[in-house]
Amino acid sequence: MMKHAAMEIESSDKGSLGPGLSPLSETLWREKTNTELIGDVSARLTWKDLTVTVTLSTAGETQNVLEGLTGYAEPGTFTALMGPSGSGKSTLLDALSGRLAANAFLSGTVLLNGRKANLSFGTAAYVTQDDNLIGTLTVRETISYSAQLRLPDKMSPSDKEALVESTIVAMGLQDCADTVIGNWHLRGISGGEKRRVSIALEILMRPRLLFLDEPTSGLDSASAFFVTQTLRALARDGRTVIASIHQPSSEVFELFDQLYLLSGGKTVYFGHASAAYEAINLNSAAFFAQAGFPCPALRNPSDHFLRCINSDFDKVKATLKGSMKLRFEASDDPLDKITTAEAIRTLNEYYRTSQHSYAAIQKVDDISKIKGTVLDAGGSQASFFRQSYTLTKRSLINMSRDFGYYWLRLVIYIVVTICIGTIYLNIGTVGNKTQFPLEKTPLTEK
Ligand SMILES: Nc1ncnc2c1ncn2[C@@H]1O[C@H](COP(=O)(O)OP(=O)(O)O)[C@@H](O)[C@H]1O
Ligand SMILES: [Mg+2]
Repeated sequence: MMKHAAMEIESSDKGSLGPGLSPLSETLWREKTNTELIGDVSARLTWKDLTVTVTLSTAGETQNVLEGLTGYAEPGTFTALMGPSGSGKSTLLDALSGRLAANAFLSGTVLLNGRKANLSFGTAAYVTQDDNLIGTLTVRETISYSAQLRLPDKMSPSDKEALVESTIVAMGLQDCADTVIGNWHLRGISGGEKRRVSIALEILMRPRLLFLDEPTSGLDSASAFFVTQTLRALARDGRTVIASIHQPSSEVFELFDQLYLLSGGKTVYFGHASAAYEAINLNSAAFFAQAGFPCPALRNPSDHFLRCINSDFDKVKATLKGSMKLRFEASDDPLDKITTAEAIRTLNEYYRTSQHSYAAIQKVDDISKIKGTVLDAGGSQASFFRQSYTLTKRSLINMSRDFGYYWLRLVIYIVVTICIGTIYLNIGTVGNKTQFPLEKTPLTEK
């Protein structure tokens, strides 16, 4: 495999940038290619013995959020991070993309294409868990303003427009391209579409490495499926995609290439997603079955994994036992006999000595030896004037459309002006009469 990958790098000449770049972004990168020696631009990410320790605010205590994680993500694959909430999925994504909180300390090695890299804007993109979009703009406007702000000035307006349109099509947003995003008083696009707009903004610059934190949370299973399918298509295009996914449906689970299962900051499983619950070839067996937790025939595999490793299920079980005693006594599910904490411990131990773990360590060593090049866009490529112009225009459009922001304020200002302006109404024009009305009251009259 290593040999194959090394050959791939040698064979990729300066002109062709490999799969995954649209013709337009290829022109974008070519200039860079001509000035620097660039081999393979794919992103191969590896992490070894990754431990993240956070300092808790008051007493200076420390806590390990992630412990000794080893794994890799290759171009063309979609890696899903799964685990119960609080298991460290977001922290792992933050650690890999170099955006950990100030009180978090990282140890271990994270390598991009065999080098320690500062993953900057343009190489890696990060789609956060919540959408930060301007509610009054339409989907097409949102994406095209973002394009104006970041694409180089040299690119012609028609090229930019074509890139925006191709991104809209890639994210399946054609039907709602002219609908406003929506805010507290403006009905707009649905939650799933918002997620897709957020992803569209990030793939506009065609990053080689894409991180997404829970892109499907809060979506119904059909929207979740379409978002995941798009992510997989992006991965197939030669990109490296890592996403944390919370409670996927079985259709979504089928789309995963690699699965990283975390519980309490430790690896429960890392390997092919399907190898976790079924034998992928004659020599191997399903990981969970080998470890003593076979997936029952009619259960969604991802539900089964999360059930095994979510310690809150002990409480669920206790509650259910109280109400449905008989049913549980007859069950032969191994999970009913031991607590989840024990199950997690067993799985952690089992993984550490399993072929999956050795294979992962071997692969990480192999991949780290491949020295590829990291294309670094170095921030926005638009000029300062273009950015100022775009921001001013966008801001004016936003203000004129946002009832609360502009019109409501205007109404309030008019009312206040009338109030203040009418205080001296009909006060007269003769000098002594315009003095303070107090002088006219009978008490002060002489
Ligand atoms: N900067 C931090 N300071 C303190 N605790 C943190 C910090 N980052 C993460 N944690 C803790 O680490 C655990 C994992 O968090 P997180 O990665 O957000 O989990 P997930 O995304 O899987 O739900 C949580 O219990 C959280 O409280
Ligand atoms: Mg999270």
